[in-house]
Parts: sequence; structure tokens; C-alpha cells
Amino acid sequence: MSSKRRDPGNTALAQQAVRAAGLDQVEVVTGDAALTDQYRGVAPADLVLVCGVFGNVTDEDIERTIGFCSQLCVTGGTVIWTRHRSAPDRVPLICDWFEGHGFDRQWVSEADVGFGVGVHRFTAGQRPLALGERMFTFAEYVVLSERDAGA
Ligand SMILES: C[S@@+](CC[C@H](N)C(=O)[O-])C[C@H]1O[C@@H](n2cnc3c(N)ncnc32)[C@H](O)[C@@H]1O
Repeated sequence: MSSKRRDPGNTALAQQAVRAAGLDQVEVVTGDAALTDQYRGVAPADLVLVCGVFGNVTDEDIERTIGFCSQLCVTGGTVIWTRHRSAPDRVPLICDWFEGHGFDRQWVSEADVGFGVGVHRFTAGQRPLALGERMFTFAEYVVLSERDAGA
């Protein structure tokens, strides 16, 4: 993971937004979001956002990350996730994976609105967070386009 991917520009913007909204209990962390160790003491959370990830990783890593969502999210908690709708449209598969890991579908954007957002609620029993694991690795654009061309 290059330091470019752990972009302090992202977290500077997040910090600005947090300040502007007066959210004094929100901590902004510049770190590798793929490592489960980052969530020690924070998980399980009521709300987990997996936004801007599923369009940049392999299918195997999407499913793997969804598996970890069942450790990151408290029973009764919610995961909000995003994934573009370009071919191959993986939104149906992502829903299947969430629902196979103990989540109920709350809402998924329509296929023709130009974006993909889903909301899943965790209804299964709590699982302990497995530390020392990497959930995903951002793939290079060329790797994903070659994969999608063959899909
Ligand atoms: C597609 S953008 C999404 C940005 C934002 N989350 C959104 O949904 O609009 C992906 C961002 O994730 C960052 N990134 C990639 N791998 C990361 C990692 N392992 N940990 C933290 N950030 C990462 C990249 O620098 C990039 O800015």
C-alpha cells in the first residue's frame, strides 16, 4: 500500500467537514482502512460506511470485506456501501454476499440512476473482530479493466 493511497488530503477535507458540522466526538484517522487493527476499540459500530471501496478491488476482496463487515457492525447496526453500476454490474452479487453474511437489505438504489448505493442491516449474532487481517487491496485500474473486459 503506497502512502499516496492513504491520502492526507482526504483526511484534511474530512477534518474540515467535521469541524464545520461541530461534531466534537468524531475522530479523523489517516491510516490504512483495509487493516482490521485500525478498528480495535471502535468496532462493533452502529454505522459502518464502505464507500469508494467496492469499485476499486477484486470480487474476491469485495466478498472478503463484506465478511469482515459482520465483525465491524454491531447486531442491529447498518452498513452503507457504494459501488458503480458500470458493467459488470456487481450490485446484485454484493447484495447476495451481504445477505449471505447475516445482513438484511434495507434499500438499494435503482439500476438506472447513475450510481450505486446500498443499505444493509446486520441481524446475525455478534462476531469478534479478527485482528491482524487485511480486508482488501486497491487494485490498479488496468487490472480491474482487464478483468471486467473478460467478465
Ligand atoms: C474512490 S475514492 C473514494 C473516496 C470517498 N470514500 C468517496 O466515497 O467519495 C477511494 C479513496 O480511497 C483511498 N484509499 C485507497 N486505499 C486505501 C486504504 N487502504 N486506506 C485508506 N484509504 C485508501 C484513495 O486514496 C482514494 O482517495
